[in-house]
Amino acid sequence: MKLLIASNNINKIKEIREILNDPNIEILSLNDLDIDVEIVEDADTFEGNARKKANEIFSIAKIPTIADDSGLMVEALNGRPGVLSARYAGEACTYADNNKKLLSELKNIPKPHRAKFVCVVNLKAESIDEIFVGICDGEIVNFPRGTNGFGYDPIFKPDGYDLTYAELPSEVKNKISHRAKALNKLAVFLDKVDIY
Ligand code: IMP
Repeated sequence: MKLLIASNNINKIKEIREILNDPNIEILSLNDLDIDVEIVEDADTFEGNARKKANEIFSIAKIPTIADDSGLMVEALNGRPGVLSARYAGEACTYADNNKKLLSELKNIPKPHRAKFVCVVNLKAESIDEIFVGICDGEIVNFPRGTNGFGYDPIFKPDGYDLTYAELPSEVKNKISHRAKALNKLAVFLDKVDIY
């Protein structure tokens, strides 16, 4: 079975390959198919953006497509950065800029800084349109720790662990993460249906 990932984020693609590690599933990226489109993620929900990405790419490629929209929601910031996670500190910002901005916003707010990572995956095929959601609860730590992963990984400590996502080995993150939870639900679904 071929499954196209509607993303250009190499970190996400790497994680998705590791999590959906099934010899029966051939994971393709947009790069593999020379698809070069910029999809504006302007929906105000993760689900809206995931659907938009999956639909647009499926309409071009015509092969079963998954899109992941994900982000970090911090309780004391009323759920921000949320759908704005990628560009929280501005259009051309780096992951470090985003972490810095988030930590500075939390500086004067009493701890613990409860937060959750959310991942919404949309599977789009000819006669299938399914949504899978994964959530990982945890808290924001005082300063960035660790070098694995990407994005907000250095400042997020999942519940039940003393290490941040970026300090945990990728095999551990990829077992417990928001993305792993959503993709494991997708894998169960793919086991049950014939998407062709
Ligand atoms: P998307 O491409 O619109 O889904 O943006 C996702 C953004 O959320 C990324 O650029 C990261 O900033 C953040 N994000 C999503 N998943 C993770 C993760 O697993 N670790 C760290 N940051 C993440």
